[in-house]
Amino acid sequence: MFTPPVDVPGPRIPHLSMVRYMREPTAFLRDCAMTYGDPFLVHVFGRWVVNMADPEGARAVFTLPPEATQAFQPRTLAPLLGEHALILIHGEPHRRDRKLLTPPFHGTRMRAYAELIRRLTRKHSEAWPLGRPFDIQEFTQALTLEIIIEAIFGVIETERARRFHHAVSAFIAQFNPMVLSLASLRKALPWLVESSRPWRLAQSRLSSLRQLLFAEISQRRQEPSFAPREDILSLLVSARYDDGSPMSDQHICDEMLTLLLAGHETTALSLSWAFFELGRHPHVTERLRSALASMASPEDAEELSRLPYLDAVCNEILRMHPVVAWVPRTLVAPMEFRGYHLPAGIAVAVCSSLIHERPDIYPEPHAFRPERFIERKYSPFEFLPFGGGNRRCIGAAFALYEIKLILADILRCYDVGVTRPWAIPAVERRNLTLGPKGGVEVIAHRRP
Ligand code: HEM
Repeated sequence: MFTPPVDVPGPRIPHLSMVRYMREPTAFLRDCAMTYGDPFLVHVFGRWVVNMADPEGARAVFTLPPEATQAFQPRTLAPLLGEHALILIHGEPHRRDRKLLTPPFHGTRMRAYAELIRRLTRKHSEAWPLGRPFDIQEFTQALTLEIIIEAIFGVIETERARRFHHAVSAFIAQFNPMVLSLASLRKALPWLVESSRPWRLAQSRLSSLRQLLFAEISQRRQEPSFAPREDILSLLVSARYDDGSPMSDQHICDEMLTLLLAGHETTALSLSWAFFELGRHPHVTERLRSALASMASPEDAEELSRLPYLDAVCNEILRMHPVVAWVPRTLVAPMEFRGYHLPAGIAVAVCSSLIHERPDIYPEPHAFRPERFIERKYSPFEFLPFGGGNRRCIGAAFALYEIKLILADILRCYDVGVTRPWAIPAVERRNLTLGPKGGVEVIAHRRP
């Protein structure tokens, strides 16, 4: 069972690999690359995975034809996200759904969320215990959750919104490594998994959230078309495929759950890393404040989102702390790479964290130096916090926009210092997302 299907070098004790991966994913991948070279083979999440740690490997994976790969664990996650979830499907249905789901996260549609992001940033930061230490991660989690709920569901500060908050938070909390491990075991031990308490709890929370979603979709379908709304749920309800057909309620529901999971924690953790790095690099924060002060129209979200130094700071944070540091795919057609024949069925992964710390691309890779993004342009195979190819994150532009608006508004109003300025290891939070171990403790003061 544990004989590797390819002779790519790598550790051969599968259970140990998973334990080490769970404990410190980036350190484990780094050790493997140093010991075994590139590519290297590991056995994690019940699968053999060939890992690429340089831009050539990233290019080889991300430029494969869309029909040559599929999602990493489609069957495992389907009971939690639904059969139609974008993150799980492939081929023509994946292409069709991306076409429908992408527009709300770009251009003028995305810009409509600026006011919402700023209003909620003010609301949440006004509750900070000024002058006393607190974990900024609690702020970033609560804020990005409320933003995504308003942006994608469009339910604002009503009893319905409260019920959504409750159901979404309960569902997300249940989407934890324990439930994901149960999902991987379910094929082998269905009875054991389905009768376990965590699994039953996850299913019951999922079903409460789905019921709310179905009710909301049904209400949107009855709303008169002359009441246009900007939220993503409404846009999906009115969206049509090329042949004119609408998405089914079930399908919309699956996509909403995907957006919630893919869009909330990733942004929250990236923001936590941002406060950590800015808090321990006051000279960068000051330079950023000067850049903000030099804006022609300080309230203009468009001008802000194009500010070169703010862009460089955000890129440097995503480079040093990619919250999805490992981007896997399953091969459905064989692939040749550096003399290895990789058969269909095996998984391949691009290790963005390892590419982001290569000194030949990023000199002094462990130094926080936003200027590098002003001095040089990086290719999509050198800088890849949002993955790449036909599955590249559809929320990338929205996430960057959100992070920039939040950082700018907070830096204008508050000084935020970290209480522990030394390096924090990245640990797995939920499925494949990495966050600062133990959170980021800060002390904030209002600026004069
Ligand atoms: C800083 C924040 C974020 C980061 C770092 C991030 C990162 C990623 C990465 C690495 C992938 C995998 C790409 C691949 O397989 O090549 C991904 C996929 C995805 N992300 Fe994001 N993401 C972020 C925010 C968001 C937001 C705000 C949304 C939407 C609300 C979103 C929705 C998605 C979806 C739907 C996919 C699946 C795309 C597909 O399979 O076709 N993400 N993201």
